[in-house]
Amino acid sequence: MVARKRTNKAEPVIAAILLIAITGLVIGLTVAIGRTPGDEYQTPHWAIAIHLLTAIPALPLGAYVLLSRKGDLAHRTLGKIWAALMLVTAIDTFFIREVTGHIGPIHIFAVVTLTAVPIGIYRIINGDVATHRRAMLYSYIGLCSAFLFALRPGLRVGNFLFG
Ligand code: HEM
Repeated sequence: MVARKRTNKAEPVIAAILLIAITGLVIGLTVAIGRTPGDEYQTPHWAIAIHLLTAIPALPLGAYVLLSRKGDLAHRTLGKIWAALMLVTAIDTFFIREVTGHIGPIHIFAVVTLTAVPIGIYRIINGDVATHRRAMLYSYIGLCSAFLFALRPGLRVGNFLFG
């Protein structure tokens, strides 16, 4: 029987991605908890800009990566870019608190992304294609759901598109 070759070369990358994700979470939660009660939180403009700059390209890029040939250089390169876009999108949301004025139920999308994307990367490094596929597909469905949510009247994108 031929033993399956496992490569751990990418583990430092995964560790770095996880570290960035956790750091973002900690900073976001620290800002949330450290706020003086009664203070109005103001979402910084840069947070909205980063969110849109990373989330919008992730929509077509994610569709392409999901639908195109798997495993080749293009899939691996574009997949890494997509994963990075998703992680930045998700971390950034902890600085956006427009809907409820604080970290609210919509931020569950971000927590799911910060969990599913690293799991998807970690599993493919270990040769587990099925879990990788599932984790990335669910992350993409999360992205599409968040996009549909953003189209709601009263929110920026909804107002911009539909007046
Ligand atoms: C193309 C996709 C997306 C678009 C166009 C989009 C757009 C936006 C915009 C414009 C806001 C600021 C609130 C407002 O509308 O004024 C926002 C907030 C937010 N988005 Fe997204 N987003 C997208 C994807 C995502 C993804 C993938 C996630 C999760 C990982 C996410 C999670 C959130 C959260 C948690 C907030 C903060 C809600 C709050 O203010 O409490 N979004 N989004």
